[in-house]
Amino acid sequence: MLRKGLSRTGRVLAGLALAALVGGAADTPAPLDIAHWRQVFARPDHTPTPGDNPATPEKVALGAKLFEDARLSGAGDVACASCHQAELSFSDGVDRHVGHDGQPLDRRTPPLWNLAWGLSFFWDGRAPSLETQAMVPIENAREMAGNLQTALRALSADPQMRQEFARAFPDDPAVTQANLAKALSAFQRTLVSPETRFDRWVKGDDTALEPDELAGFSLFVGKAGCVACHQGWRFTDEAFHDIGLTSGDKGRGPVLGVGAADHAFKTPSLRERVWSAPYMHDGSLTTFEDVVDHYADRVVQRSTLSADLPRRIALSAGERAQLVAFLNTLSSDDPPRPASLPARTMALGAVADAVSASTISQKDRRFTPGAVILKAGDALRILNDDTRVHNVRLDGPGKSFSSDAQNPGDTVTIGFDQPGHYDVICGIHPEMRLSVDVAQAR
Ligand code: HEC
Ligand code: HEC
Repeated sequence: MLRKGLSRTGRVLAGLALAALVGGAADTPAPLDIAHWRQVFARPDHTPTPGDNPATPEKVALGAKLFEDARLSGAGDVACASCHQAELSFSDGVDRHVGHDGQPLDRRTPPLWNLAWGLSFFWDGRAPSLETQAMVPIENAREMAGNLQTALRALSADPQMRQEFARAFPDDPAVTQANLAKALSAFQRTLVSPETRFDRWVKGDDTALEPDELAGFSLFVGKAGCVACHQGWRFTDEAFHDIGLTSGDKGRGPVLGVGAADHAFKTPSLRERVWSAPYMHDGSLTTFEDVVDHYADRVVQRSTLSADLPRRIALSAGERAQLVAFLNTLSSDDPPRPASLPARTMALGAVADAVSASTISQKDRRFTPGAVILKAGDALRILNDDTRVHNVRLDGPGKSFSSDAQNPGDTVTIGFDQPGHYDVICGIHPEMRLSVDVAQAR
């Protein structure tokens, strides 16, 4: 509270000083297209939930309890909430949490806001769903050092728990691994970050942002280039980028087996980050000021840098302060409480009408067309006419494929011999989805 109050005053003063100093700045930015950006950053009115794990109040309540239950850990001393602390944006305030072996973990504890919209989980995206993610920390020797079977036995021995599992899962009233994962995930999907001053501005309140904050937003979507990756109301494209930090962690590369994705990490949301310092996968940057200085002049030059990262951004001290002022408007003034939105069962990602085509384009991080019909025996050509490196992947029953790094200009050809449905994605930009239906050859 105090910290935030001070920084708010500091911001106003900095803004005033700045206006006096740079009154006639040399490079005039393009005028802000307010109507456009208000549309781009509008919040949704419901939370997506997967069809096989619909949210019910009983399930969410059970998940919330399990999230704080140390019986999930080997020694009964660590719960999910030990590292993901509500008052710290479900993070832990340290660069790297000290693990069970007394050594710091490899990566920083990420905040858990707005994961219902996530397409992959962990900094390197190695878990495809919240349900699969939840089991990992329990058995991780350095995190909870637990054993699932032991944890399930401990929970089953508690009559109250048995009853709560039965209420949450009336069709399958048992304390099982699947139900544990479903309850934890259903709870985590309710962690929607609340509206902040920025959202009031998005909804049309022109007075919600101070002039220096609005100037910071202009830089964010303009010459600072931040919006290339931090896009949409959650401020993430769900993609993996190398932004040139000094850390030796290879991130997404080893997960995909694609060297071009080395040092790439999932773009984090920027919501409620005032409460979750320090920043980045290694917790190496302490303040928003450090983050902005990083992008402006500390990027480590290497071949794996994201095509979406501006190579040089000239930002004056005043402009840096404005960017920081804007970042602050994405956080609540008091420790945030989750906002609840009605849940709606839906698949993430738009489903396009399938057309018959043999060549697919990948321009602007989109497969076009997004859905195709083929005949068994046909081949599909996928042309990278984008400016970015892609990694075409297909994982399905009886068929798996990875293109390795597909550079701009490269074409990848996949043959389809068996009828069926296939989903093709880009391993570096998982929001790119191509649905392939292969019909029986006649
Ligand atoms: C010892 C600290 C610790 C505990 C306990 C812990 N986590 Fe985490 N959590 C982490 C760290 C560190 C990461 C990042 C690891 C990585 O990306 O490789 C993480 C990542 C996650 C993520 C991915 C978030 C994202 O943005 O992709 C989720 C979800 C999550 N944890 C949920 C849980 C749940 C549920 C539990 C309890 C079953 C739990 N965590 C227990 C430290 C912890
Ligand atoms: C090329 C894509 C890209 C661009 C452009 C970009 N970011 Fe990021 N941002 C990321 C990724 C990826 C991370 C996490 C990197 C890591 O941990 O290795 C990140 C991390 C952050 C974080 C830390 C969040 C946290 O919780 O740790 C902040 C704050 C941030 N960016 C702000 C900005 C600002 C401000 C700009 C514009 C000056 C910007 N970003 C430009 C991709 C991008």
